[in-house]
Amino acid sequence: MPSSKSFQKKLKILVIHGPNLKLLGQREPRIYGNVSLPRINQSIQAEAKRLGVEITIVQSNHEGELVDLIGNAKVDHFKGILINPAAYTHTSVALRDALSACGIPAVEVHLSNIYGREEFRHRSLTAAVCIGQVSGFGEKSYLLGLEGLVKALRKK
Ligand code: DQA
Repeated sequence: MPSSKSFQKKLKILVIHGPNLKLLGQREPRIYGNVSLPRINQSIQAEAKRLGVEITIVQSNHEGELVDLIGNAKVDHFKGILINPAAYTHTSVALRDALSACGIPAVEVHLSNIYGREEFRHRSLTAAVCIGQVSGFGEKSYLLGLEGLVKALRKK
């Protein structure tokens, strides 16, 4: 007889990669490393498996598409969002408003340490409406962010 735990639905997490992250591996490797986005996604999948959650991963260069994804996340039964808003971190009131309005917790991640780079990257418009931020650990930022998000969701 399977335990009741095996009937429990897995937490669904939406993982969002913002603009230009498709180019990881080739894009400024000195800053972002040599690991490609598909490889990072494999690591995120493995971490999701370890944590026992279900993830959907998307990448988009388009602000409106990202706003739509975040806006639909709750009706699409996601319980949390892990997001690297990339350049929109520093510019997008629309993304900030979407994260603030969506009604589910989000964690912001960055591969690079945005506070150690150009001044315009020091300001994140999105971090204040997220429950936390991880910045500067390369692909590990996603894994640490996912773990933090899942722990916060399980505490609720
Ligand atoms: C980034 C940092 C942003 O400033 C930049 O625009 C990116 C990537 C990061 O993951 O380090 O595209 O979000």
